[in-house]
Amino acid sequence: MKNDKLVKNLIPCKVLLKVTFLKNTSLVQRANIAQENEVGKVVTLIWYQIKRHYKTKMIKFLLTNCFETKKLAQKMSFFLKPKDIVLLKGDLGAGKSYFARAFIQSLLGEETEVPSPTFTLVQEYETSIGPVWHFDLYRLKNEEEVFELGIDEAFARAISLIEWPERLGSYTPKEYICLDFSFTENPDERIVTFSFTQKYEFMIERIKDLFPEKKII
Ligand SMILES: Nc1ncnc2c1ncn2[C@@H]1O[C@H](COP(=O)(O)OP(=O)(O)OP(=O)(O)O)[C@@H](O)[C@H]1O
Ligand SMILES: [Mg+2]
Repeated sequence: MKNDKLVKNLIPCKVLLKVTFLKNTSLVQRANIAQENEVGKVVTLIWYQIKRHYKTKMIKFLLTNCFETKKLAQKMSFFLKPKDIVLLKGDLGAGKSYFARAFIQSLLGEETEVPSPTFTLVQEYETSIGPVWHFDLYRLKNEEEVFELGIDEAFARAISLIEWPERLGSYTPKEYICLDFSFTENPDERIVTFSFTQKYEFMIERIKDLFPEKKII
């Protein structure tokens, strides 16, 4: 049997039922299943491919001032498109809204007002590359409220920028790019830690060009 061809045909169909079944078996059991029959082999291959697809990688950059955070947001606005999800983590005042504002203004112009959605929880923008929904979930009362805010619609047709994504709970997406901002001793600096899935590797490679080597930590 041509396993490669079969895998290619099956992956777009997402045979998740079989994958879920395998997820609950031990590695040894999985290996036995794989040896027992061809279907087992194929399902095991698919399971490993999906695992690789959702595996997260990490990289850190030092942003020496606000201007560098702005440049980062501008660069990312070239690459992101509807259905992309950006999780913005970090303590109060770390720079999440600053990044989101710079991202939206790079698409709509510096004069565009981008208020922090502290109380509305979400603000929507129409841009040349599609809708951008900016969430701030800090004041979210419960997980269900995130559904009422339209998170499903945002994930389906917009670029989602989400502050305090820890509040998403079971609505946390499987594919995303996460920027975690942290402080240094210098009040103008931030360290940004990216966690990202395979889909965003290409963009990270381009972002590296922004930072001279010494700033990648
Ligand atoms: N390198 C930097 N990058 C981003 N912001 C910086 C930087 N240096 C200083 N700042 C300042 O830090 C502040 C970040 O505030 P911001 O509202 O973005 O925080 P936040 O993470 O959204 O907090 P909150 O959780 O309260 O919403 C701004 O006043 C900004 O000027
Ligand atoms: Mg904020």
